[in-house]
Amino acid sequence: MKLITEWTTPLRYKPYHQWSKAYQDRLASIIQKSDWKQAFHIQPKTGLLNDPNGFSFYNGKWHLFYQAYPFGPVHGVKSWYHMVSDNLVDWEQLDYALLPDSPYDSHGVYSGSAITVEDKLFLMYTGNVRNEKWERHSYQLGAWMDSEMQIEKMTEPLIENPPKGYTHEFRDPQVFRDQDQYLMAIGAQTEKEKGAVLVYQSSQLTDWELLGELDYTTEEMGFMVECPNLVFVDNQPVLLFCPQGLDKRITPYQNIYPNMYIIGSSFNKEAVAIENASDLVNLDEGFDIYATQAFHAPDGRVLSVGWIGLPEIDYPSFEEGWAHCLSIVKELSVKDQHLYQKPVAEIQELRQNHEVLQGVVQESDILLTSPGRNVYELKLELDASTSGSLYLFADKQNKEGLKLSFDAKHDTISMDRSKAGIPFGESYGSIRTAALKRQEKLSLHIFVDRSVCEVFINDGYCVMTSRVFLKDPQQTAIFLEGFAGDYTGDFWTLREMNE
Ligand code: FRU
Repeated sequence: MKLITEWTTPLRYKPYHQWSKAYQDRLASIIQKSDWKQAFHIQPKTGLLNDPNGFSFYNGKWHLFYQAYPFGPVHGVKSWYHMVSDNLVDWEQLDYALLPDSPYDSHGVYSGSAITVEDKLFLMYTGNVRNEKWERHSYQLGAWMDSEMQIEKMTEPLIENPPKGYTHEFRDPQVFRDQDQYLMAIGAQTEKEKGAVLVYQSSQLTDWELLGELDYTTEEMGFMVECPNLVFVDNQPVLLFCPQGLDKRITPYQNIYPNMYIIGSSFNKEAVAIENASDLVNLDEGFDIYATQAFHAPDGRVLSVGWIGLPEIDYPSFEEGWAHCLSIVKELSVKDQHLYQKPVAEIQELRQNHEVLQGVVQESDILLTSPGRNVYELKLELDASTSGSLYLFADKQNKEGLKLSFDAKHDTISMDRSKAGIPFGESYGSIRTAALKRQEKLSLHIFVDRSVCEVFINDGYCVMTSRVFLKDPQQTAIFLEGFAGDYTGDFWTLREMNE
């Protein structure tokens, strides 16, 4: 059975029940054999995964959903797929949670959020509908999940239309509690085609009233803002969002669409404003991150997870009929007006064999280790005065690989994937560079999982995320080179999720 290569619109919107089981089994079997299949990242069973949705804690378990199109590596008619976890690391993929099966979501159950309300989980999401002229209508919809994990959609839309002055590019509601009320932030576009975030309020979750357009910048936010998330990290409001078409003079970025954040001093509900908002900052300085979703866990942490992928870019795994993965879960904190993202503490549960690394950085490259399998965690500390490069996914001669270079003179770090396997997304450049704040040591905390690499720099001051599609899975060597200075580190092999 051949994979589909010509994805016409009718095919992408073909109802789920019309796809044969044999076809889906074929897709699943290709992934099972893929060298790019990840060990501990969430990836789709078949087809495409994009935004994380409904990240929440309910009835003693972590819940996470994702945008799914199960029949190929394209953005077809979307649904929500449901996963649960006891530890934020081992995720059980359950089943579809919300299917595009109502007149209000016939062309896609789009992104949204979840919040525990008494003994139930409330889901709020966007229903995407296209008419005969292929014009979009966005409905904001609700559903309730009970302790048996049965989900029931509410029959009527919670919000039928965007408010006056805004188009139907109106989606991705994020609901959160504010004292005795619920607030909701949602991505929007003005009739003048400018990106915006709107804020609504409700006391019952059914009676949504527009408070207004969120005031968090004086700049123009491109043509559309997707996936806004307003969270309160260390008592400061942080807005995570994806301003599509943002002018690069506002904050430079290289990815097709950026995932950004701003931090303010307080949230003024009356004025619908984030007071003293910072400039926009890239949430991730790497190649592949989008639609990050964050929520307040009941234990006080603010946790986030992102989509490791971008819209409108072709990835090498498309050839195998599947696409994308989610990031590991991160914990957010704010220090000196800067957002820090750290791997969630529970990720340590994946650790297996440990190796201590120690030595002196040499001008010629030295092999740190070659684990034989690109599934590991690596921590490295270097004197901040050391300039040099770390190579991951490298071959034995260190001719090919992903290159991370740190430049002590300029306090920058860069990631170069021009020699890291099959090239893709090259029109957006193959190098990303980020500015660092000087501290005594440069610390790198790296998670590698076959076709993905997440690098946390200086305790999460900066994160660089990238997919890597090797032609040769034997490229597992890790090299270090640079100018004098000691290095110390730890290396762990990691187990598979749910193993
Ligand atoms: C962001 C996004 C959202 C939308 C969803 C559809 O990646 O475009 O705005 O709800 O994906 O899958």
